[in-house]
Amino acid sequence: MVKNMALRHLTKVTDFTRAECEQIIDYAIQMKADRWNPKYTSKLKNRTLLMLFAKPSLRTRVSFETGMEQLGGHAIFYSVKDSPLGVKETIEDTTKCASRYVDMIAARVFKREEIQKIAANAGVPVINMLDDFAHPCQILCDFQTIKEKKGTFDGLKLSFYGDCRNNVTYDLMRMCAMFGMKMDVVCPSDPEYAPEQEVIDECKEISKDTGAVVRVVHDVMEGAHDADIIYADSWMSYGIPKEEEEKRVKDLMPYQVNSKVMEAAKPDCIFMNCLPAKRGYEETAEVIDGPQSIVFDQAENRLHVQKAIILFLLNLMN
Ligand code: CP
Repeated sequence: MVKNMALRHLTKVTDFTRAECEQIIDYAIQMKADRWNPKYTSKLKNRTLLMLFAKPSLRTRVSFETGMEQLGGHAIFYSVKDSPLGVKETIEDTTKCASRYVDMIAARVFKREEIQKIAANAGVPVINMLDDFAHPCQILCDFQTIKEKKGTFDGLKLSFYGDCRNNVTYDLMRMCAMFGMKMDVVCPSDPEYAPEQEVIDECKEISKDTGAVVRVVHDVMEGAHDADIIYADSWMSYGIPKEEEEKRVKDLMPYQVNSKVMEAAKPDCIFMNCLPAKRGYEETAEVIDGPQSIVFDQAENRLHVQKAIILFLLNLMN
């Protein structure tokens, strides 16, 4: 296989520049308004996306498959449970074979090393559909939704509540750093729930150029102060053992987003959750089903932004 030097991958949001993220977001908004225009519906004729899933999914699988269909292409769902990655053959061999059949590879895996190995060996663009370090499709979708609701990113403060040692928090931190925003990562002081130092350092470095302020705070009301966006994510990510549930609920309950937290934020603050959500855990039903919640607009945008990501990586965004 001859490696294409122009090949681009999306393993975490900072694989793209801010300008590229904005280009993708603006294109997604444009396509969303005119999705059946023939200039879009045959863009991926004869193109195939392979989707490797090592973990469950609703939104990611359905939105990628539907997006490929809407652009005139085809998506293959492959559960790696049928042939676990790196067991019967190396990840390198799996990736090199798949690259001979399809135009793109998307993967949802357990560990960042797995997606890095896939990207290093692929002859086609690779999209990370979630690992333990990043969830870039989700965060590009979130920023599309923020642009639609707020009209700008300038001067915004996003506060993330709960378990902050996870892929969604990390890519939100990177994105807020890259976009020069304020972000409060609001979590218990127990390091089990705090972001990894590597990600904090990564964001500090980016913020030197952008003026962003990304902080870890433990005071719930301090996090809500002046917030334009309050974000919560599941306390029970895929793979967390059932027996840990009781302890996690006890530890994280003080960080639940409830109406008191929303009232402490700006009056026009929006509530986001990448879903799946559990009412009564990371947020109350009153918040997620209330007027400030935009979670289903957010979920819809997975479809639109992923179509734009695919076209960007295939150099078909024109
Ligand atoms: N938000 C998200 O990635 O949802 P799924 O796990 O259902 O794909």
